Amino acid sequence: MFPVLPSTAPPELEQLALDVASSSAALGRGCHPLILDEIARFMEKINSYYTNAMEGNPSKLKDIEAALNKKLSKDPAARNYQFEHLAHIRVQEAMFERLRREPGLRVCSEGFVRWLHERFYLLLPEAMRFAKTESGALVPVVPGELRDRGITVGRHDALETRAAIRDHLARFEEFLSPEALAGTRRLFGLASSHHRLLWIHPFSDGNGRVARLFTSAYASRIGVGEGRLWSVTRAFARNRADYDAHLANADLPPRNSLDGRGPLSEENLVEFCSFFLRSCLEQIRYMDSALTLADLERRYRRHVDALVREKVVSKSGAKVLARLLTQGEVSRAEVPSICAVKARRASLIIKELLDARAARSETAYGALRLNITADMAAVLFPDLAR
Ligand SMILES: Nc1ncnc2c1ncn2[C@@H]1O[C@H](COP(=O)(O)OP(=O)(O)OP(=O)(O)O)[C@@H](O)[C@H]1O
Ligand SMILES: [Mg+2]
Repeated sequence: MFPVLPSTAPPELEQLALDVASSSAALGRGCHPLILDEIARFMEKINSYYTNAMEGNPSKLKDIEAALNKKLSKDPAARNYQFEHLAHIRVQEAMFERLRREPGLRVCSEGFVRWLHERFYLLLPEAMRFAKTESGALVPVVPGELRDRGITVGRHDALETRAAIRDHLARFEEFLSPEALAGTRRLFGLASSHHRLLWIHPFSDGNGRVARLFTSAYASRIGVGEGRLWSVTRAFARNRADYDAHLANADLPPRNSLDGRGPLSEENLVEFCSFFLRSCLEQIRYMDSALTLADLERRYRRHVDALVREKVVSKSGAKVLARLLTQGEVSRAEVPSICAVKARRASLIIKELLDARAARSETAYGALRLNITADMAAVLFPDLAR
């Protein structure tokens, strides 16, 4: 597995790491914090959409949304794909909840990585808990259990025994944990750990999806992803061939006697880190332009106008929606004055907005919040899920 980090990073790589840190810190400035929360909630669906798409799940954002609204397809295969998304989204939620509650949680520990796998597979329908071996036979995947047989990923023959996997995971935690690193090395750790975990390939299936979850936990721990406003998975899914090629290159031994001192190529690790951090930067920049307030407001207005035109919401309802984007939320008591109507009419307007899912509310009397649906997202964030 060594080297796990570049011994000396070229200046371009240092710069990339600095750019990722500074641009992710600046992301969303100018937007209301509650709006950013809603976008983060929405990004959990985007993450699920892309990471499962990489595994051949054909669900669209609409299908994911339907599943979350308890509308499951009648077709068993389509329904299983919806369950796969529900599993992913629930694990993400539980993962961020743990990261919030447990400041000492070590994301690179064997325990945490296995927990991700366990939670994900426990939530999957029984029919999806199988892995295909090279000979095409289906073997059951036990949630959270490390594999105890060899596996080939592309041209990489991964470790063969559980003992070897555990041994490597221990060193993975020792050398790649965010707690063991500082400065830009934490960003190299973020990139490298994504590959090294996949190189270890601890499970008989689900390694890609667990590694992508793990990477968002790592990003959150080092302070570049705690806002959850961007997703590197989107870049991997959209450049799948590049992603796989960079992973495969980083599996290779040194190119020559000058290429580091470990069993794996250091030059290829540097290239992988560079690919990874470039992918992050591309995603942060994409979201940064999508969140430019004036443009965001313009697209939001276009969406609200369309809802009025299609008679999904009334003109009064639109006034409430307009407030949501700047205020983050609108209390129910404010609706009469915003719309210049009496309380009875105001409660009908609120009902109309909630029924149309144009707004949402955490509780029966709670304030109204933005509800980013697939339809709204198509206008608000063009290209996000395509
Ligand atoms: N050459 C490689 N070396 C290391 N990892 C690789 C390589 N090629 C692909 N991978 C990773 O392995 C994952 C596939 O492993 P596995 O099938 O266990 O995971 P999965 O979550 O079921 O799959 P998928 O990524 O297809 O969703 C890929 O997603 C990718 O992240
Ligand atoms: Mg798989």
